[in-house]
Amino acid sequence: MELKDQKPPKELEPIIDYEDCTDYVPSSVQLEYEENIRRRMKARRRAAERRRVNRNRTIALILLLIIIFVIVRSCTKGSGENDKEKDQTSSVSQSEPDKHNDVRDSSAGKDKNGGSVRSAEEHKIEQSNGMTFVDGILIVNKTYSLPADYDPGVSAAAQNAFDEMSSDAMNDGIYLFVNSGYRSYAEQVELYDGYAYERGVDEADKVSSRPGHSEHQTGLTFDVNSTEFSFEDTAEAKWLAAHCSDYGFIIRYPKGKEDITGYAYEPWHIRYLGVENAKAVEESGLCLEEYLGITSDYADAENTYSYDGDTTGAEGQDPDNSAYSSDYGDENGGNDGYGYGYVNG
Ligand code: DAL
Ligand code: ZN
Repeated sequence: MELKDQKPPKELEPIIDYEDCTDYVPSSVQLEYEENIRRRMKARRRAAERRRVNRNRTIALILLLIIIFVIVRSCTKGSGENDKEKDQTSSVSQSEPDKHNDVRDSSAGKDKNGGSVRSAEEHKIEQSNGMTFVDGILIVNKTYSLPADYDPGVSAAAQNAFDEMSSDAMNDGIYLFVNSGYRSYAEQVELYDGYAYERGVDEADKVSSRPGHSEHQTGLTFDVNSTEFSFEDTAEAKWLAAHCSDYGFIIRYPKGKEDITGYAYEPWHIRYLGVENAKAVEESGLCLEEYLGITSDYADAENTYSYDGDTTGAEGQDPDNSAYSSDYGDENGGNDGYGYGYVNG
């Protein structure tokens, strides 16, 4: 029922004469006034709608920026832990890897504590200019070699890390120095041939790398202080083992892993990997070969140096009278039977 059709109760004095309202015609001023109000309300509604659209656009833009930031962050994460490591970083996908590229993406999903060995298929092995990178780490061992003309000299990052480490060691009353650092292919020929001549190839292979297979040629490796097996029991060796990963180094040929690394325990031989990788390897309890799922065996190498000189040492000797040990050392970790002019390393 329309308002105009309603009648007030009879007993009440009518205030409005409804009958009179029915033919009411508003004036043009009133119409214009009403029209203005309608226009203003419409404008207000439009302005509110515009504000709502702008607010939603701003929220969508912020969300988009956050998503882009998260994606970019996750893509770049792991490309370098700190400035020191960035100095060493180069992508393994580069056609020309950095001469000292040994820093790997930390997001490779390693089992850091379980100690499980992953197969080579689970790791990214790349060859570039005669060098092998496993998960971005330059690998040199009995299986993988370097070209004879690869001569980068000592790595600045490795040297800086060593200097920092020796300075901190000094504060603990420990004196660390580099006994042997970068060695060229030619220097390794001299060294290895000397061992092979004195001890025979089999014994030489336990303590010295064939030319092209020595980590010393990477410029990322140092022999610290003494290369006598008795070094193991010194305060310096203990400090080195306990702290070297803090500076990006690992003890490359650990005790108990001789059959996997292919070398006797060398408590003095450290390899620079960058802090992140060194810590991960150390925490895994694995040697680098296990950690990367690779072998260290001349039988697996594509080609390798062969010593063709004479030997005056162990070969041909009666094993019972030989000063040589037929394994990687005695059960105390010592190979003290060796008494030759050449040091290990
Ligand atoms: N002593 C280590 C294995 C080298 O000759 O590089
Ligand atoms: Zn060494």
